[in-house]
Amino acid sequence: MVEARLVSPQSRIQFLAGLPELRALITFFIGTSFVITLWVKGVQIPLSPFTWIVALIAVCAATRILGQGHLTEVLQGLQAPLFKTAPNGLSSLHVAIVTGASSGIGLETVKQLARQNVFVILAVRNPSKMQNALHTICSELKISDQGKYFRVMELNLDSLQSVKNFVENYNKLGLLPHSLAFLVNNAGAMLSAPKLISDAATGQPVDSAFSTNHLGHFLLTCLLFPTLVRSGTRVVSLSSAMHLAFTASTPVTATNTTDAKKWDAPAAYAGGKISNIWFTRALQRRFDRYYASQKQPSQQQATAYAIAPGTVWTAFHMPYYKEFMGGILIWFPVVMGIPSYFSFKSAFEGCQSTLHMLFAGNPRIAQSDASPQVNEKMEKLFQVEPTARPSPGQMHAECRLAPMSSVAADETKAEKHWEYSLQLVQHLMSKETTQHFDLIQ
Ligand SMILES: NC(=O)c1ccc[n+]([C@@H]2O[C@H](COP(=O)([O-])OP(=O)(O)OC[C@H]3O[C@@H](n4cnc5c(N)ncnc54)[C@H](OP(=O)(O)O)[C@@H]3O)[C@@H](O)[C@H]2O)c1
Repeated sequence: MVEARLVSPQSRIQFLAGLPELRALITFFIGTSFVITLWVKGVQIPLSPFTWIVALIAVCAATRILGQGHLTEVLQGLQAPLFKTAPNGLSSLHVAIVTGASSGIGLETVKQLARQNVFVILAVRNPSKMQNALHTICSELKISDQGKYFRVMELNLDSLQSVKNFVENYNKLGLLPHSLAFLVNNAGAMLSAPKLISDAATGQPVDSAFSTNHLGHFLLTCLLFPTLVRSGTRVVSLSSAMHLAFTASTPVTATNTTDAKKWDAPAAYAGGKISNIWFTRALQRRFDRYYASQKQPSQQQATAYAIAPGTVWTAFHMPYYKEFMGGILIWFPVVMGIPSYFSFKSAFEGCQSTLHMLFAGNPRIAQSDASPQVNEKMEKLFQVEPTARPSPGQMHAECRLAPMSSVAADETKAEKHWEYSLQLVQHLMSKETTQHFDLIQ
């Protein structure tokens, strides 16, 4: 496994300065301040209102161009889908599970996977909301037979029992044994108040923020472990640059407070997001140990990646802005909405790192009927830019290897956190999963 790339105080600044949305936001504020200052002071400058409007539009356009994230080079200029055979529902060769598929980055990921002829299982807490979104996707992609490309299945990460039910229902689908190519642990939320769930093993109350952002996905991945190692699945977990806000002195526990007044939404969220990185590192170690214990070498091995999608214009930010603005939403469009709209990434740009982790250098594509140029293109890209090759167990951003904080890279903390999470969900583990874990202890 590649050594963790750490963020030193100096490279932290470099990392943040390299983020397109931050550069864009700075451009927006400098640009608009400049135009407004000229306008306020410029009674003597004989410019028409039309010119001022054009100047503001130019600032917004420059912001949008700078705010674009990297697009995955693997998919750029593709003449045909990566997997040429159209999926055929449950007998598909290449299947993906995407959690939180009903909006934002997840929804866009689903659309892009379907474009590449992957059969997608949409794991959502609100199936009727998903159905509405699916109609739009199908008409955009001109898909007439929805069941050939998609299956909607209920998964509420707030409830551990719901996660278990989801996996049981998945196992009953009767998919081909090696077909789960991709698992995208995408769902997540910054909750504005504490809310407890009560189905953890030790009877310990677990916060919904911890369960939605980490524990639900932890259980999902553990229950699917036998399928993942058999299929050689790529597992991508959506973390965040917010993990950098997390310090070694703050413990990550299932619940911090039940007092709404003491609730610190960003801290609870950052705890979930650092958990995603520890989870990815510990999961990769278990994949490595599993394959090392096998007599027969596997052609296609399961691997795990963490990514930070960047700051993306989705519903994700809404509850926080409402809170921030004291509920006076009328100010939102002016104060935050306009700069955010132009500087944040679109959902399409936000899903690029996820897609890059799923596809780049994936032997499944080399073995598929995709054109050989795709593989050639990838190898060339990796020679010029080795950091563009997805590194198992590592953090990525902008379709490249990204640095992580020293707390996130701490192997001991990652292992302890795995054991802690396991204790909370042990009662829901299947016999098969427990046997797999016993094998690799
Ligand atoms: N947007 C950003 O700037 C940003 C930045 C860094 C990281 N991220 C991460 O990117 C991921 C996707 O975020 P997004 O921006 O696409 O946000 P989003 O539009 O709010 O989508 C979040 C998705 O998660 C689902 N979800 C929330 N709680 C759930 C639960 N308890 N059980 C099942 N599903 C649940 C939501 O379902 P409903 O549709 O039913 O609400 C929704 O589909 C998250 O993990 C987030 O932490 C986002």
